[in-house]
Amino acid sequence: MANASGFCSPTVPSLKKRISPSIGVYRSGFCSSEGISRRVSCASTVEGPERLGPGVSPSESRIPRLVSKGCKLVGCGSAVPTLQVSNDDLAKIVDTSDEWIAVRTGIRNRRVITGKDSLTTLAVEAAKNALQMAEVDPDDLDLVLLCTSTPDDLFGSAPQIQRALGCKRNPLAYDITAACSGFVLGLISAACYIRGGGFNNVLVIGADALSRHVDWTDRGTCILFGDAAGAVVVQACDSEDDGLFGFDLHSDGDGQRFVLSSSLENKLCASFSVEIELIFTQCRHLNASFKENEVDHALGSNGSVLGFPPRRSSYSCIQMNGTEVFRFAVRCVPQSIESALKKAGLTGSSIDWLLLHQANQRIIDAVATRLEVPPERVISNLANYGNTSAASIPLALDEAVRSGKVQSGHTIAAAGFGAGLTWGSAIVRWG
Ligand code: ACO
Repeated sequence: MANASGFCSPTVPSLKKRISPSIGVYRSGFCSSEGISRRVSCASTVEGPERLGPGVSPSESRIPRLVSKGCKLVGCGSAVPTLQVSNDDLAKIVDTSDEWIAVRTGIRNRRVITGKDSLTTLAVEAAKNALQMAEVDPDDLDLVLLCTSTPDDLFGSAPQIQRALGCKRNPLAYDITAACSGFVLGLISAACYIRGGGFNNVLVIGADALSRHVDWTDRGTCILFGDAAGAVVVQACDSEDDGLFGFDLHSDGDGQRFVLSSSLENKLCASFSVEIELIFTQCRHLNASFKENEVDHALGSNGSVLGFPPRRSSYSCIQMNGTEVFRFAVRCVPQSIESALKKAGLTGSSIDWLLLHQANQRIIDAVATRLEVPPERVISNLANYGNTSAASIPLALDEAVRSGKVQSGHTIAAAGFGAGLTWGSAIVRWG
């Protein structure tokens, strides 16, 4: 298990020495040097090869640089496909009902990508709306982060979004894969680039089309998911205007694990081939893993690999142990938010809005109760869209901002959780 709560420790002696006494630890756990308006390098270059450790290039610094910048959210946007699928529609293809789905999940409708829509077109529309609200020209973007588990291209779709937006300076653009936590990770990554890397305008998009990976005959999962995209523009600002107050990130690969039973029958055949049959009996939490299509791993008598090249492979449909995911979310999400609030010097009662990944209304209600946040301060729109994975937080944020619910200066506790397992939270100010 790993966690991250900030990337710069005030205890690094060389950093302190060079810019003290003005350097301090910001509420988020970042270092800041208040009052210094330009970029500050703290031992940013290594002086001479003799000071480098093995494997460190002279052009690299092993010491983090500090920047006297804060970051803030200045624009948001979203986009959803036109096709709406209701619970009653689903009841026509699987054995379920509107009542069962609504009572167990809070979901009534979801949107599904069809026709000419793609993840990229949705993401571009959401991005354009966010840029327009932020009054930021695509040419002024320094970085495009696409948080998704379902890119249109195996190698990532962020560069296509950069191209579609017409960013003339070709800013760095790449994908981040962290399932339903992707947007929170993207947001924190954007803050790190701004505070530590001198970036000014970062576009963070959360977009997913899980409908492509759902088994539409499995009533346990197909009722949950929908497709959407949401985006925010994160912009550099003076450190005293900083709008990221605290964050908390985790991952635990153990949560993805299958409970396996292995059959090693026919272990050694006459031809010295080994047949290992792995029977996946239960998905621990949630995954859509790589599926090998009957690849023959047999070795020839001279050691050569038979059955090469391998056959085309694919991913399995989403498999989920709903009860385990539910338990994990209700246990870990409040802890993460409490940790981020503590780093921010805030409590649940001092936030204006609780904005969780929109997976299940019962999860949202349980977390709100634990944090003592009243229902009127909880943002929820999953009745209309279902679980849209990395898109759910920016989609809900965009609706709340455009409806006037969330206003400039409001503090939001946002938290994502999902496959991996990954989970995390961020305490941010809107505007
Ligand atoms: N309609 C009718 N009956 C159903 C349906 C359905 N769609 N799905 C399951 N059932 C049945 C089951 O077969 C079972 O029947 P049985 O008792 O005869 O065996 C019964 O309902 C109860 O099934 P459970 O799985 O125990 O139902 P539960 O109350 O746990 O609700 C649910 C299932 C809604 C999936 C819940 O576990 C849940 O929401 N978990 C969290 C899921 C989640 O958040 N996933 C995504 C997070 S990460 C990410 O977003 C990528």
